[in-house]
Amino acid sequence: MIKVRAASVNPLDWRLMRGKPLFVRLMIGGLRKPKITRPGRDVAGQVEAVGRNVTQFKPGDEVFGACRGAFAEYVCAIEDRLALKPANISFEEAAAVPVAALSALQCLRDKGQIQLGQKVLVDGASGGVGTFAVQIAKSFGAEVTAVCSTRNVDTARSIGADHVIDYTREDFITNGQRYDLIIAANAHHSIFDYRRALGQDGIYVMVGGGWAQILQAMLLGPLLSLIGSKKMCFFMAKLDKTDLVLLKDFLAAGKIVPIIDRRYPLSDVAEALRYLEEGHARGKVVITLEHNNKT
Ligand SMILES: NC(=O)c1ccc[n+]([C@@H]2O[C@H](COP(=O)([O-])OP(=O)(O)OC[C@H]3O[C@@H](n4cnc5c(N)ncnc54)[C@H](OP(=O)(O)O)[C@@H]3O)[C@@H](O)[C@H]2O)c1
Repeated sequence: MIKVRAASVNPLDWRLMRGKPLFVRLMIGGLRKPKITRPGRDVAGQVEAVGRNVTQFKPGDEVFGACRGAFAEYVCAIEDRLALKPANISFEEAAAVPVAALSALQCLRDKGQIQLGQKVLVDGASGGVGTFAVQIAKSFGAEVTAVCSTRNVDTARSIGADHVIDYTREDFITNGQRYDLIIAANAHHSIFDYRRALGQDGIYVMVGGGWAQILQAMLLGPLLSLIGSKKMCFFMAKLDKTDLVLLKDFLAAGKIVPIIDRRYPLSDVAEALRYLEEGHARGKVVITLEHNNKT
């Protein structure tokens, strides 16, 4: 059992709550009513008590990871979905990490097969997944291009992007550049456009974005991958303990620094979800707990 100090909001939280489109209900949400009735995935806090089979943590340990029902003062979690929080980061920063950073790590490394020196483009570089994807791609030694709107250009540079494309002024599909790996953290182009922007043997990994883009990646991606040398796929993140521990090491070494846009108290979770749903958060939106400063 964890005394929650901070949680963070992910698009999945509002998608499950809205149950739109139907697709989400079929995949995870429950057809007529939500299967998951306690929202909130990402959590950071202090272990309050442990079950008798728990071996990795003890009361008082500071942890972060994933659970069900993180928007609460206390929550129970499985030890394999938690890691020790590095001492150099706050609970708020730790809560910003799990879903977004695991997604960024796994899409770059596992589906994207990122290599040193590759040209990597992150579309949707200023959101939760994108800000981690830029930093993790840099830590793999890639040359990173971030795509975001004007107001996020400086943030993209500050997290290490080598090149920044302001999508309100320039279209990376038509600017003549070709990429070894494209991560669509927020896909708003058609799969055929992304294919055009890939170089020889390039890989396109679709993480999130519009529903048309998701369906294209799921249905057309495997077919297009059969033609020529370019690969196109949809990606689903896994809550993997080994990867969470790897992220903990990245955080401790300062290789990734969570970007926090806004903080809301637990009583304003609904506002936090509404803000995220607008689709223009810069980095992560965090929930802070009222008992934060008490022991
Ligand atoms: N497949 C999986 O396993 C998995 C895992 C995690 C997340 N996801 C999905 O991945 C997506 C991203 O998640 P997230 O946490 O990063 O969401 P988010 O934080 O809500 O993303 C917001 C960001 O998207 C950017 N954006 C909006 N329109 C854009 C456009 N036309 N071009 C480029 N960027 C644009 C915004 O930048 P501007 O304000 O500059 O426009 C904003 O910074 C969501 O759809 C989520 O459901 C999937």
